[in-house]
Amino acid sequence: MSFNIKEIPTNPFEGQKPGTSGLRKRVKVFQQEHYTENFIQAIFDSIDVKNSTLVIGGDGRYFSPETVQTILKIGSANGVGKFIVGKDSILSTPAASNIIRKYKATGGILLTASHNPGGPNADFGIKYNVSNGGPAPENVTNQIYEKTKTIKSYKVIEAIPVDLSKIGEHTYGPSKVAVIDSVTDYITLLESIFDFPLIKKFLDEHESDFPVLFDGLNGVTGPYARALFVNTFGLPESSIQNCVPLPDFGGFHPDPNLTYAHTLVDAVEKNNIPFGAASDGDGDRNMIYGKGAFVTPSDSVAIIAHWADAIPYFKKGGVKGLARSMPTSKAIDYVAKKKGFEYFEVPTGWKFFGNLMDAGRLSICGEESFGTGSDHIREKDGLWAVIAWLNIIASVNKDSPNKLIGINDLLNEFYSIYGRSFFSRYDYEEVPSEGANALVANLNEALKTGSLDNTVYTATSSSTSFTVSGLYDFEYKDPIDHSVSKNQGQVITFTDGSRVVFRLSGTGSHGATVRMYVERYVAADAGVAELSKPAAEGLQSLIEVALELSKLKEFLGREKPTVIT
Ligand code: G6P
Ligand code: ZN
Repeated sequence: MSFNIKEIPTNPFEGQKPGTSGLRKRVKVFQQEHYTENFIQAIFDSIDVKNSTLVIGGDGRYFSPETVQTILKIGSANGVGKFIVGKDSILSTPAASNIIRKYKATGGILLTASHNPGGPNADFGIKYNVSNGGPAPENVTNQIYEKTKTIKSYKVIEAIPVDLSKIGEHTYGPSKVAVIDSVTDYITLLESIFDFPLIKKFLDEHESDFPVLFDGLNGVTGPYARALFVNTFGLPESSIQNCVPLPDFGGFHPDPNLTYAHTLVDAVEKNNIPFGAASDGDGDRNMIYGKGAFVTPSDSVAIIAHWADAIPYFKKGGVKGLARSMPTSKAIDYVAKKKGFEYFEVPTGWKFFGNLMDAGRLSICGEESFGTGSDHIREKDGLWAVIAWLNIIASVNKDSPNKLIGINDLLNEFYSIYGRSFFSRYDYEEVPSEGANALVANLNEALKTGSLDNTVYTATSSSTSFTVSGLYDFEYKDPIDHSVSKNQGQVITFTDGSRVVFRLSGTGSHGATVRMYVERYVAADAGVAELSKPAAEGLQSLIEVALELSKLKEFLGREKPTVIT
């Protein structure tokens, strides 16, 4: 059969360089004539496309359905053999990673801007994942970028759009399109990892004293959460909220942190919910939050690693190694040391974990940016983390018939074994780029001249002093492919073991976002009162010092951060 393939002339657009997680821009930018088409053609120009199998899905945000059709048209014209598409163009990022792996696809295109708001005036994103199910490494994204700079035309096939609301196999020009249920494969995966019967039994027995609340923030996880909490664990409807995916997330900023996930925080506090959780727009981030109990992501991954044996997947397969991104607190390092696991510190960005996992050296990892996951897929996984916590809580309570053990008990027990890494992040969103660059340049200057070394800073509020012991620019050499990533954040260390990190965000869609990460370690023998302090209290002096020595307020012209986590 012959099909009509048209070659459409175009001109390159500037700035189609994929960032930490794909190309992220305002919807209006993607809507320019040829803009989206150019980028998609550039992807196909950079991969082995002939007879390939390509997964397509995303968080369902505004501009997704039309972009799926664009990918089908261009992909088919370029020789894709089969497309596997989530129904209604929906696949959470972890579900897509699973599908790429499970069906041995060549790769996948995910339509998401993660936790950024959606809608006609907000953000859209296109991200390419490779055959291991993880984000494309830099050599691939660089190649895509190079192609966008010289593109002269793109190919499309003339075919009628596929009805994405109907599950089943369709013929599309010379290609096949399988529209699949977005949820089933993912639930099957989690069922193979966790002890579902144990979790269900625990939740049944504690229906009245351990109600659970999951908030999908109107992102993609809604249908997955319903399948888990309501259909599998038999919890009431009231255990999920904001669980219908909306193209504009109902106006929410779908990022699970204390500021943006206020619908969860408010409901948990008002209704005294001991276990709450939320996920972001595309389902890869998570926040664990119970009444009066916030689990900082750095602690969350460390606690999961500490309790790995409670999870059948790790009990059976063992733990091969642990890892965290550089700004993430060192809590997980202490677990690795105590249990004798290999551990790694990688730059920010989930893609850095993938190589270690593929080499069989990493099982559990996490990032301070509310990302937690394991080698079951090659993306972080919001619901995986939530169910990991429930599995651990169910398992711990099996041995504690008389006292219900909740989030705070697990936190305090963990601190009493390993000590506590007080951790917080201050975000200064959308500041002028000149200010952000000047802040970085000033630290680079101090790095060059050593001007900060051994200087002593005293916090005015407490008279606590900190002495700078070092300043460096984090650089990573991948132990598997030996690639080197430079300039991954500036780290200031202090003689008491505390550290402050400054980093520019790689995921914003415009302006610059500066992140300041602070960490202070308190040893296990400091006693409960000291160890269980609110993080803001434990870090107050260090934060004052960090702001002073970096002159952040002067450079950025901001008195207060936009978000504190
Ligand atoms: C995405 C990546 C994460 C990374 C985060 C960093 O969510 O998937 O792996 O931690 O971006 O974002 P930032 O804005 O700090 O560059
Ligand atoms: Zn995300």
